[in-house]
Amino acid sequence: MNARNLNKKHNNHCPDLAKCLYAKATYKFEMSDSVVEAKRDAGIRAANMVRDGMIIGLGTGSTVLFAMERLGERIKTEKLMICGVPTSNQTIMRAEEYGIPLTTLTLHPELDLAIDGADQVNPKKQMIKGRGAAHLREKIVANASKQFVVAIDPCKEVMDLDIAVPIEILPFAYGSVVKKLRELGGKPIIRNGIKKDGPIISDNGNYVIDCAFNVIVNPASLEATINNIPGVLDNGIFATMTEKTIVIIGDRT
Ligand code: 5RP
Repeated sequence: MNARNLNKKHNNHCPDLAKCLYAKATYKFEMSDSVVEAKRDAGIRAANMVRDGMIIGLGTGSTVLFAMERLGERIKTEKLMICGVPTSNQTIMRAEEYGIPLTTLTLHPELDLAIDGADQVNPKKQMIKGRGAAHLREKIVANASKQFVVAIDPCKEVMDLDIAVPIEILPFAYGSVVKKLRELGGKPIIRNGIKKDGPIISDNGNYVIDCAFNVIVNPASLEATINNIPGVLDNGIFATMTEKTIVIIGDRT
């Protein structure tokens, strides 16, 4: 990571800049203890917003896992009755571990609240998600929820969204989508596996492209424009659900 890649607000707010390492296109990062503590705090506070009887969306990622751990505790100690719609295979596996009952959007097409993390959030509560390649289901679940609770560590707060946008695409359309993204001024890079050669395959059986656009001046417009390309299933810009979004920024103490 190059600290010059971080925008000004991120520079000012990140508790441990040297260790909270965001690479613009590749999402390489490592976390300091204080970032982990901030994620834990945000996740716990999000889980504490859940009320008995709620049907909730369960996002994906390290912050959501802290929320799920807390929900598991509350199910045991408070006899909290809830059901969750998971957004990834990771979330399904952890739900089993923490004893969180699961359901589907078929059975529950409207959710009371969805808990998720994010990779960057601007002051308008617009965000970029998808480091974990779960943004397609995450957006469906957030959209189905009355409230969208986004739990983040302070590193994620920025003035302007400027990291690469994750885009889930049908593998068949790879070439034509890449061409269109270049025409839009983007720099698309296929997301490759770490312990796998070649492209990662999402939980939905698709490819993910990370496409840098530098500073995103109009997130809602770019979100719609990318989604208009045939073969794009969805992208990681969440720009239009701001009214029902609550952002919880974790404390690291
Ligand atoms: C997964 C996501 C995650 O919610 C996002 O990457 C934040 O993850 P973390 O809480 O681990 O920082 O969008 O697709």
